[in-house]
Amino acid sequence: MEEKFAKKVVEVNGFPHIPLYSEEFTEAEMLARTGKFYSELSARRSVRHFSDRPVSKDIIEQLIITAGTAPSGAHKQPWKFCAISSEEIKRQIRIAAEEEERSNYNSRMSEQWLKDLAPLGTDTNKEFLQIAPWIIVVFKQVYELGPEKDKRTNYYVNESVGIACGMLIAAIHHAGLVTLTHTPSPMNFLSKILERPENERPFLLLPVGYAAKNALVPDLQRKSLEKISVFYE
Ligand SMILES: Cc1cc2nc3c(=O)[nH]c(=O)nc-3n(C[C@H](O)[C@H](O)[C@H](O)COP(=O)(O)O)c2cc1C
Repeated sequence: MEEKFAKKVVEVNGFPHIPLYSEEFTEAEMLARTGKFYSELSARRSVRHFSDRPVSKDIIEQLIITAGTAPSGAHKQPWKFCAISSEEIKRQIRIAAEEEERSNYNSRMSEQWLKDLAPLGTDTNKEFLQIAPWIIVVFKQVYELGPEKDKRTNYYVNESVGIACGMLIAAIHHAGLVTLTHTPSPMNFLSKILERPENERPFLLLPVGYAAKNALVPDLQRKSLEKISVFYE
């Protein structure tokens, strides 16, 4: 990727630092930009009906590298994004996810939970896991493995990986694609199918692709600014 500016490295406390690259805008420009960004992100929806139309690996790589720009505790970057287009692996994931979901819906979920889910129209059928051209499974690295297989601490792992997932979801939407934040809990089957090392735990499963033609989404209302914020001026 082309550098936007020449890196002029200076030392601070013995560690290399570079000048910050940032853009400034006028108040009017900022209002226009933040309004446009809000409009774009407010059109994002969780989608459960996918098209099988292919999406190139190049796009998926760009989405993942975007997620990888997220901030993380002590810059440990405690994430791993597994991108799956293999029909066989997607099939295995669907079978295992549906099995877990059957247990969830039939016994593990409370009456209240099932009531809360009812408006979303979700059920134990996870056909979309095979229809979507890609599944991205995000793993959190609960600790880091050093060269001698020694354990090194990661910090604020859930917060860091959660932020990276938010950025990934926003990037998917920005590309004109759709995803579903899916948590077929427990998700241990993903570690087995994808043969992940012991320091990695499944965090989220995101089918990625184009929405099916005529896809429907629940008519949900989002909380107002007044409801989600308090200003102290
Ligand atoms: C952490 C998390 C877990 C979720 N798990 C599931 C899931 O397992 N299955 C599902 O159909 N939707 C799941 N969702 C999607 C939510 O139902 C959806 O985000 C919510 O209904 C709001 O809809 P919207 O994303 O279209 O705004 C999950 C969302 C989050 C943030």
